Amino acid sequence: MPTKHHGSTGKTASNPRSDPAFQRDSVGSRLYLLRSASARDTDQLTKLEQSVFPTLWPPTNFTREIKKSGQKVLVVSLRSGMPAPDSSEVSGSLVERVVDGIRTLAKPGTASGTGDRSKQDPIAGWTVVWFVVGEAHIASIGVAGSDRRRGVGELLVQGAIEAAAANDCDELTLEVRRSNEAAQALYRKYGFRVVGERKGYYIDDNEDALIMTTPDVRDTEYAAHLAELSTDHARRWEGVGSRFERE
Ligand SMILES: CC(C)(COP(=O)(O)OP(=O)(O)OC[C@H]1O[C@@H](n2cnc3c(N)ncnc32)[C@H](O)[C@@H]1OP(=O)(O)O)[C@@H](O)C(=O)NCCC(=O)NCCS
Repeated sequence: MPTKHHGSTGKTASNPRSDPAFQRDSVGSRLYLLRSASARDTDQLTKLEQSVFPTLWPPTNFTREIKKSGQKVLVVSLRSGMPAPDSSEVSGSLVERVVDGIRTLAKPGTASGTGDRSKQDPIAGWTVVWFVVGEAHIASIGVAGSDRRRGVGELLVQGAIEAAAANDCDELTLEVRRSNEAAQALYRKYGFRVVGERKGYYIDDNEDALIMTTPDVRDTEYAAHLAELSTDHARRWEGVGSRFERE
């Protein structure tokens, strides 16, 4: 279970409804890759965590987290060669997006450059999942403001559930701020239900945490439901030009 400092649910950077990404249209092709984090991701992850949970202290030591056994750090990155979204972009014309894409492609080390392309892939989101005696715990999850409402959070939750099942865990559990309706809606979609609460769990403002848990993710019925959600997710986003792959 995460400490008060390290909960998945530190105070978030913004109200999702006022987030520019929420108002933006969804035109533009993107290829998101779900993969395990590696040491070369740590700088990006540290910066991303700071932008998503600005009041979180101390920050996560991702170098250590990635190396630890009994847990997994998953990331979703935008594959090299695809136009990377500018985090300050609110909306843009097709021409602006094409120009952004060309600039990205022209950078050394990205799709047209040489060297390790994966180093340059911008990370759109991450999750840290702990496996403890048959139970998995989502210790943290977050998506960059510019990539929200594009299916990245769902892909991370799918990845966390798959990782839990692969590590012989029956259920996943997590804490979420009582006020965090966006995250709760995401978890409910994947079968998490509120099973309890922790009063004053978050030290920055004393907000309560809700404890949410899945049913048995290795149960056939749940596995079928997950497969259906994954298919719907892929189909829905393909329709607006986003593709999701797993490493
Ligand atoms: C919560 C969070 C991870 C969701 O990521 P995301 O990539 O925007 O989510 P998706 O686009 O995959 O959306 C999946 C589902 O989440 C829910 N959801 C996401 N954003 C929402 C919003 N602003 N309002 C209501 N529901 C929302 C919906 O159920 C959505 O399904 P739908 O598109 O069929 O309605 C993201 O908003 C985030 O990083 N927030 C800040 C950090 C945080 O709160 N982390 C969770 C701590 S417990």
